[in-house]
Amino acid sequence: MTWYTGDGTYDTLLAIGLAFGGFVFFVSWFLPSPYGRFASKRFGVSVNPKLGWFLMELPATVSFLVFFAWGPRRGELVPLVLLVVWLLHYGNRGFFFPFSMRVARGEKGTFSLVVLGTGWLVTTLHGYLHATFFTRLGPHYGPEWLIDPRFLGGLSLWAISLALNIQSDAIIRDLRTREEIAAGVREYRIPRGGLFRFVTSPSYLTELLAWTGFALFTWSLASVFILVVSAANLVPRAWASHRWYRERFPDYPKERKALVPFVW
Ligand SMILES: NC(=O)c1ccc[n+]([C@@H]2O[C@H](COP(=O)([O-])OP(=O)(O)OC[C@H]3O[C@@H](n4cnc5c(N)ncnc54)[C@H](OP(=O)(O)O)[C@@H]3O)[C@@H](O)[C@H]2O)c1
Repeated sequence: MTWYTGDGTYDTLLAIGLAFGGFVFFVSWFLPSPYGRFASKRFGVSVNPKLGWFLMELPATVSFLVFFAWGPRRGELVPLVLLVVWLLHYGNRGFFFPFSMRVARGEKGTFSLVVLGTGWLVTTLHGYLHATFFTRLGPHYGPEWLIDPRFLGGLSLWAISLALNIQSDAIIRDLRTREEIAAGVREYRIPRGGLFRFVTSPSYLTELLAWTGFALFTWSLASVFILVVSAANLVPRAWASHRWYRERFPDYPKERKALVPFVW
């Protein structure tokens, strides 16, 4: 099949990935991914969430680097700039985030192998689609792309969103003290401050804005693929989390929305 880049393998995998996003969106309203607060024994074996997150995100770095190194335009300016952005993004999500998670000592697994397995498919494909487009198939990555308004606007949106995503993840992380973690305590509390003033899931909101910025500054369907899959997972999960907090905490802030400030 050729319809986007003219490379049949690439276009077919991209089409499958986009269709998978539609499937995930449908399923996620009924079945939030079984990890964290929605962990469930129904899905079989689970592993420690630090390990689960690290392993799940690892192919996004490895697959990207392998296909990047293989691409004929790997030494050009724009692909190298995109490589740096990728490493910054996955330096956070793939390494800093899992290693800084506060997981109670002795905690049994809460990260299902089902999530890990499907996550691997997505992160491997994600690395392939981006690296191949950046170094082989993307037609618009000459040096002039670096002053294109889509590049500058998208990169700014990505950088601001990533910073706010890291802030939101940090607020959540600090809800459990190191002493509690050492004592094996796994408590849930109401997060406050930052974008939590407006929504229950600011990490998800900023994650989706970061991928929107990514899609703008790469101007590629590879980024639309990861935006679609992320939204398919995170929009229903944000709604489920909002309901979960409201049911669990009688004093949960009434004005706080699920995902979109003042709206939803
Ligand atoms: N691109 C994508 O498709 C995608 C998909 C999923 C996540 N992400 C990103 O990955 C990051 C983490 O996502 P997540 O779903 O794991 O977020 P999360 O529910 O906020 O969990 C992150 C960590 O905080 C802990 N935690 C959560 N709520 C807490 C509370 N009320 N009190 C105390 N501790 C709490 C969790 O512990 P427990 O494990 O014990 O719940 C976990 O260790 C986010 O930035 C998200 O945007 C991206």
